[in-house]
Amino acid sequence: MNVARFSIHACKRLYTTKSVTLTVDKFPGYVRHPHFKKQTQQDLTYFESIVGQHGYINNKDEMVPYNTDWMNKFRGQSQLVLMPRTTQQVSAILRYCHDQKLAVVPQGGNTGLVGGSVPVFDEIILNMKNMNRVRSFDSVSGILTADAGCILEVLDNWLAEKGYMMPLDLAAKGSCHIGGNIATNAGGLRLLRYGSLHGTVLGLEVVLANGTVLNNMSTLRKDNTGFDLKQLFIGSEGTIGVITGVSILTPLRSKAVNVALLGLNSFDDVQVAFKKSRVELSEILSAFEFWDIHSFQMYKKHFNHKDVMEKDYPFYILIETSGSNKDHDDQKLTSYLEQMMVNGVAQDGVVAQDQQQMRDLWGIRDGLTEALGKEPAVYKYDISIPVAKIWDCTEDMRHHLKTGGVFGEADSPVINVVAYGHIGDGNVHLNIVTKDLDTRVSDLIEPYLFEWVAKHQGSISAEHGLGVAKNEFLGYSKSPEMIELMKTTKAMLDPKGILNPYKYLPQS
Ligand code: FAD
Ligand code: MLT
Ligand code: ZN
Repeated sequence: MNVARFSIHACKRLYTTKSVTLTVDKFPGYVRHPHFKKQTQQDLTYFESIVGQHGYINNKDEMVPYNTDWMNKFRGQSQLVLMPRTTQQVSAILRYCHDQKLAVVPQGGNTGLVGGSVPVFDEIILNMKNMNRVRSFDSVSGILTADAGCILEVLDNWLAEKGYMMPLDLAAKGSCHIGGNIATNAGGLRLLRYGSLHGTVLGLEVVLANGTVLNNMSTLRKDNTGFDLKQLFIGSEGTIGVITGVSILTPLRSKAVNVALLGLNSFDDVQVAFKKSRVELSEILSAFEFWDIHSFQMYKKHFNHKDVMEKDYPFYILIETSGSNKDHDDQKLTSYLEQMMVNGVAQDGVVAQDQQQMRDLWGIRDGLTEALGKEPAVYKYDISIPVAKIWDCTEDMRHHLKTGGVFGEADSPVINVVAYGHIGDGNVHLNIVTKDLDTRVSDLIEPYLFEWVAKHQGSISAEHGLGVAKNEFLGYSKSPEMIELMKTTKAMLDPKGILNPYKYLPQS
């Protein structure tokens, strides 16, 4: 059986009809660094000599999708998108930008959720989509090497034919690049099973700010020679180098996959179900996702959904198992589900009977972000806290917004607070949906939420990164000494600060 999972919501970019506020107008304190040069005709002539006449875009209208982020929350003012085809071209571009002090934003599929992939001012966009070749694949070890601009889903489909799969999966897979995934250290839906990119990435090819190519395309699983430099670039969000090549360990594609959706009455039940799934499903458990009723209602509002259960429940969990023996896996899952139902942990549930049903169940989870994108405005948060605290945090935010007078009445600016996420990773996506961007709301959320997270030893960004949305709050998750060392590292690798300026590290 082919178990490739195609999201029915595979990252549809929503183009807004209303104009997106310029990022710089959202952050009035931000000033264009005076030492950055403004791009000239001479620069364009040079870039054309590197990438050719089809390797760039400078038409204002065509540039809109490159200047605007996926959620239509951030907008930059770049006048040039460069689309190099080779590592040598990236190197020549960066060497020139370094010499000329031209600022650059590396860009992958532009699906990032923290405004990191679009410029703030007139930074040149270095879009990686033309670097999209698979370089090699070792069918014995499962080690893949590829250009950084390969689309995640394209790589996954390519590997499917060889019986392998990518070790990460996310609803943006139809657009995001593997280079962008690594630059953000994306987590996604399979981290529970296959671990983080810090473990699966074996090597990287990176072009530094001054054009130096750092070739570390190792295909070794074990290599204890010196500092593991590649780790520095995983999650560095384009601020210290441009990833051009990737070596990654890919797992065998499972022969047997099951997907079940359960309705539950309480978050305590969600935790019991999770704990029990680890015991009962253990090695075949490949995903354990949750969403609340508010997320589900929002999903149903925007998509034509056919209910699979007779009534709604406060919580839903989606469980996926992946193994090599269907009978064995079916038996394990059935026994687990029976226990959940008999013990009253789950109130109702369905198990997908075919691939279409699997896609439909996953489609709900994958469609939540897109549904949010259809709301007038949303404040998105992506935090890690102990699993037991996930719902306390959500409830506390609802209460806080109500007592703050912005939620609960028909004319309140907040429409709803919705939560979903990766239970197995202790990662909740808390989203405050509003009628418009409203400082009465944002002032109540920030830094309140970050203080809450810090108090519980959590992280203010579990997987989406910092970009321009969370950089000023880094101090809630990292000590002053660590931030200082990060700044020193940035200054060493990018002394002129041309790579993705104004982001990632606190500017104040
Ligand atoms: P971009 O958005 O283009 O860039 C992101 C950052 O990386 C920017 O700072 C950019 O400068 C930098 N960058 C990009 N390419 C390079 C490169 N080659 N070299 C150096 N820097 C580079 N994230 C998760 O972790 N888990 C999820 O489950 C998840 N689900 C999502 C679902 C949807 C529908 C959407 C829209 C987003 C989701 N995300 C998720 C956000 C996530 O960060 C991105 O989808 C993805 O990892 C970014 O890849 P990208 O190629 O689009 O990068
Ligand atoms: C997800 O898990 O769906 C993503 O991280 C995106 C989001 O937070 O909406
Ligand atoms: Zn997520």
